[in-house]
Amino acid sequence: MTTASSADHPTRRDFLYVATGAVAAVGAAATVWPLVSQMNPDASTVAAGAPIEVDLTPIAEGQDIKVFWRGKPIYISHRTKKQIEEARKVPVSSLPDPQSDEQRVKPGHDQWLVVVGICTHLGCIPIAHEGAYDGFFCPCHGSVYDTSGRIRQGPAPTNLPVPPYTFVSDTKIQIG
Ligand code: FES
Repeated sequence: MTTASSADHPTRRDFLYVATGAVAAVGAAATVWPLVSQMNPDASTVAAGAPIEVDLTPIAEGQDIKVFWRGKPIYISHRTKKQIEEARKVPVSSLPDPQSDEQRVKPGHDQWLVVVGICTHLGCIPIAHEGAYDGFFCPCHGSVYDTSGRIRQGPAPTNLPVPPYTFVSDTKIQIG
């Protein structure tokens, strides 16, 4: 007859250590997850319309970035003084879809243009910083938008839409 050693059969105290460790690990995971999930809504939540925040700090003057909100490309342009002046000197009544530049940006944040990057003709994605007006150019059928995202030439019937957004600080916006 052989005698079992304590190494073969963990004592009750060993079991309690193991059990406590397992609970601690689960507890830690449960604590971290809500934090992570709040910071990064999952793809289906974003696609369903969750607002997104965008830090504007890395966008240099004269640069554009593209982000996605509700599955749509959104252009954010950090406009130069010259681009703003060009957008403002054109008589609004001469535009195919008359809208002033001021109506398309937020007061006090004239340098930031935020538009949905979908051509209003047949839905192609225009290219930023292209075209005769230094705004957006849609190569599909030649629509040209200005530095305010307003249609200036070509078959697109209306300006690039401005999505709902707000400045949550001087350097951050929330879209949606
Ligand atoms: S889809 Fe842009 S010009 Fe036709």
